[in-house]
Amino acid sequence: MSNRIITLDEFIIKRQNDFSYATGELTGLLRDIGVAAKIVNREVNRAGLINILGVHGAENSSGETVQKLDMYANDKLIECLSNSGECCGIASEENEDFVPLPTIESKNAKYVVLFDPLDGSSNIDVNVSVGTIFSIYRRVSSEDSPCTLDDFLQKGVEQVAAGYVIYGTSTILVYTTGNGVNGFTLDPSIGEFCLSHRNIQVPKTGQYYSINQGYYSKFDLEMRRYVDNCSDENLRLRYIGTMVADIHRILFQGGIFLYPSTRKYPDGKLRLLYECNPMSFIMEQAGGKSINTNLQRILDVKPTDLHQRASIVIGSPQMVDEMKSFVEKYSATTT
Ligand code: AHG
Ligand code: MN
Ligand code: MN
Repeated sequence: MSNRIITLDEFIIKRQNDFSYATGELTGLLRDIGVAAKIVNREVNRAGLINILGVHGAENSSGETVQKLDMYANDKLIECLSNSGECCGIASEENEDFVPLPTIESKNAKYVVLFDPLDGSSNIDVNVSVGTIFSIYRRVSSEDSPCTLDDFLQKGVEQVAAGYVIYGTSTILVYTTGNGVNGFTLDPSIGEFCLSHRNIQVPKTGQYYSINQGYYSKFDLEMRRYVDNCSDENLRLRYIGTMVADIHRILFQGGIFLYPSTRKYPDGKLRLLYECNPMSFIMEQAGGKSINTNLQRILDVKPTDLHQRASIVIGSPQMVDEMKSFVEKYSATTT
């Protein structure tokens, strides 16, 4: 086997030929996201050195405290995507409304990009892994007019690409265009993402379950029983509080991640468009599964709102199936 380094850019261009529908535009878009990821990575890494840590002082559209780094990452992504001219509009966890991109080229572009610029904000100030998540759709509105809300409210199954970046012990970008999942590690000495994890396959089952068990008393009864069962089965609990990091671990080691409905978040906390759909597309492409606590496939949910939340159960296929059977059996015996 050759040791030749394959950079993200080289890989993306090579892969373009695998798809009949792929044009240079999608390739360019993925490259632009790679550039934004490097810029955000630089700031995340020196966050302790400059006066960027701390609360920005505003609330986002979901009413949560916004950190400075959230805004920085949001601005950089918008900037890189605006410059590219390959994306006609963006929607972000940090923006109330979608943003049509203004340049002449952008207006006629075919794609929209949705993102969670910084996932795991509560972990920034304490040097724990954070991430960026993105999701790309082909627009459904006509190409010679500004993008519309319908372009963003598509089912997850319509995604043409999705990915995430984890700013961890190393910085890794993982993405799919619907033909398997590949991971690229940033080599800081050359400033390039290099292919490091080819054709990622999630283990069929695993030893880990990942849920905020602190909310145990706020879960529905069947969820409490399921969590009891995980403990009875001697599964090991891991919960970082950064979805990207928790799911990254599961992709490689197997396991199940759950963010169910709670009393505070009756529809779940995580956002369907910026978190659940892209991570579900990646997980399914790696051979895993992803459903909500109504046992519906996440990618089949028709969104009605940009900031809609969803419950999620995602991970190794066998473990998601077991969770589903557990809940079905439990509901049958209690009704
Ligand atoms: P964000 O930082 O983008 O708001 O996302 C945080 C999310 C997700 O990454 C994580 O899994 C979850 O919130 C943690 O929530 P709890 O603290 O309620 O467990
Ligand atoms: Mn998030
Ligand atoms: Mn975020």
